[in-house]
Formats: sequence, structure tokens, C-alpha cells
Amino acid sequence: PYVVCEPCINCKYTDCVEVCPVDAFYEGPNFLAIHPDECIDCNACVPVCPTEAIYPDDEVPEEWQHYIEWNRYLAEQWKAQGFNITQKKEPLPEAEEWRNRPKSEKDILT
Ligand code: F3S
Repeated sequence: PYVVCEPCINCKYTDCVEVCPVDAFYEGPNFLAIHPDECIDCNACVPVCPTEAIYPDDEVPEEWQHYIEWNRYLAEQWKAQGFNITQKKEPLPEAEEWRNRPKSEKDILT
């Protein structure tokens, strides 16, 4: 499956959800996660993400390896709360400002 990594934090452009043929994205306040049991490895989301946040699980950069498990955990949490996202919406207000800056993992849930 594909994995959303750190660059999504504080941006959440949501172009990815629009192209996902199986609606595998789940939304939290500052981040999206892909449910690994729903992703069909089609690759459609990778080229449309403005922050280049999405990687196949076997190509996730070393420093973001823990995002593999976090995508599962967060997608399950957010799925249980009904937070499936299938349509593009406005990015977070400061998305452009954060686009090329390092993000903080603690912002995922704030
Ligand atoms: Fe995030 Fe990129 Fe999607 S910034 S919401 S993974 S298009």
C-alpha cells in the first residue's frame, strides 16, 4: 500500500482523495492517512500531491518509516469516526506557507 508521510502535515491539499479509485483516504485535523487494507497500489495519488508526501511502503524514506504504521493506526481511528474523505476541499489556510518547510509530527492531531 501507499503511505502518506510528513510533508502532508499542516497542508492537506486533498488532491489525492479526488483521484483515489477506492476512497482509501481518511481525514484528521492536519493530515490524511491511507488505509493500507483498502489501497490497491494504483499510484494515482503520488503525482498529484503538491508536497510529494505519498510513497509506496517499500520506498518510504528512512526517517519516515514510522508513518507506515501510523497510516494504519490513524486511518482506522478516523474510519471509526466516519472521517472518510473522497472529495477535494480547500487546503489548510497556511498550506502554502508550510509547503516547503519541515513539519512537526506533533501537529498531526492538533
Ligand atoms: Fe496531503 Fe498531499 Fe493529499 S498534502 S492531503 S497527501 S494531496
